[in-house]
Amino acid sequence: MTDTLVQPADGTGAPKRLFIKTYGCQMNVYDSERMADVLRPLGYATTETPEMADFVILNTCHIREKAAEKVYSELGKLRLMKQDKAAAGDGVMTIAVAGCVAQAEGEEIMRRQPAVDLVVGPQAYHQLPELLTRTARARGERIGADFAPNEKFDALPAVRGVDGPTAFLTVQEGCDKFCTFCVVPYTRGAEWSRPVADVLTEARGLAEQGVREVTLLGQNVNAYDGMGEDGIWSLARLARALADIPGIDRIRYTTSHPNDMSDDLIAAHGEIEALMPYLHLPVQSGSDRILRLMNRKHGRQKYIDLIGRFREVRPDIAISGDFIVGFPGETDRDFEDTMSLVREVGYASAFSFLYSPRPGTPASTMAAPVPDEVARPRLHALQALLFEQQTAFNMSQAGRTLNVLFEKTGRNAGQAIGRSPYLQSVHVEGADHLIGQIVPVAIERGQQNSLAGRLLTDTPPPQAERQD
Ligand code: SAH
Ligand code: SF4
Ligand code: F3S
Repeated sequence: MTDTLVQPADGTGAPKRLFIKTYGCQMNVYDSERMADVLRPLGYATTETPEMADFVILNTCHIREKAAEKVYSELGKLRLMKQDKAAAGDGVMTIAVAGCVAQAEGEEIMRRQPAVDLVVGPQAYHQLPELLTRTARARGERIGADFAPNEKFDALPAVRGVDGPTAFLTVQEGCDKFCTFCVVPYTRGAEWSRPVADVLTEARGLAEQGVREVTLLGQNVNAYDGMGEDGIWSLARLARALADIPGIDRIRYTTSHPNDMSDDLIAAHGEIEALMPYLHLPVQSGSDRILRLMNRKHGRQKYIDLIGRFREVRPDIAISGDFIVGFPGETDRDFEDTMSLVREVGYASAFSFLYSPRPGTPASTMAAPVPDEVARPRLHALQALLFEQQTAFNMSQAGRTLNVLFEKTGRNAGQAIGRSPYLQSVHVEGADHLIGQIVPVAIERGQQNSLAGRLLTDTPPPQAERQD
């Protein structure tokens, strides 16, 4: 997030301090950046710590119990900071809870933590400026119980603050799938796609500010069906148009659902150079029985076949996934089906979670919950296998030359860290002058979580050396 200081609109001089803490998925990261954009014209500049902030926003996640509970413990700490700030005569700390916990249990938040001034759902944060004015008068505002993402996007400022050469770009929100374990359809509402022109305008603005890679976001991003000039556009068509924007050299998208995978999107991976060879395609379980109970509406073989089709058009594509272990009724046999699917697919990276019952979801009242002492060893076994695959994938890159987009400096002097096309972190010494550029790197070593490489001899050295 940019720390540009803007004169407040009220002309009082000093910028106000805004602290945003983000939990959950990439869409929350995008939303937090947009909240900062909305508040910048009011004179708010982001800070790295909450202690002396004038406005604190917790942008929350409701996906698992732990994620939601973290919010309440953080609010407890903030309450004390708010008191200290007032006691020091340093003005008021306004506390807002945004995001999916705000949407799911706004009233409970207000009840459990009186220090909270306002609660704002994921489709209503464009109203933060107005809400702030109102909370100066009365506590207890709760906004955003209904879903209208179009109003939000229409109200957001055209210019975004950017931080580095990569950016998230929300193109689709909401979910109509109702997997039996998941809260997202309740917290984000129905599937909705942003109009094509809006997405292209935002992407051009990002490119003008030096962004080279955009990650298109949606809870079901491959269900994208935004309105274009000549009718509905698919995600593949959108990716083609984005690839034509000068400066946009890399495109990624997440998260996809197997049932929305279309022929044109698969084909696009063989045709659009900017579309990176990396696919995050969650499957959750390898057991047909459990997939049915989860209401995923596809079987194990369909998923495996889909991956095969991607590999036909793009043999080097790196596959990533999400898994849930210990879903109600999961037997040893079902779990073994998940392990065998992982062996069959071969993942470059993956996320795996213990099933967490969520209030209001059908799975939370299903028969045969799996006890923790059974589920946990399964999770460990799955994670060991996924980790082994990830390490092997990283090690297999040694000896290759990969294009790396350098994003930031590393721990050592001169070191730069970037991403390979496969989303791996790549560490390179003597490359800090190349941040924001895509440069070929000779990969020397693959480790568990990253790659190490060196610049090729014909890569331009830093300016100062070149002038010698
Ligand atoms: N839209 C995406 C994922 C959204 S949530 C999709 O359909 O795949 C991100 C991940 O969190 C899910 O893929 C799932 O693996 C995990 N998850 C969701 N609800 C969960 C729950 N109740 N318990 C444990 N993990 C869960
Ligand atoms: Fe949740 Fe399923 Fe929708 Fe993904 S597809 S957001 S897991 S309900
Ligand atoms: Fe969490 Fe909401 Fe994202 S529940 S995973 S922040 S859509």
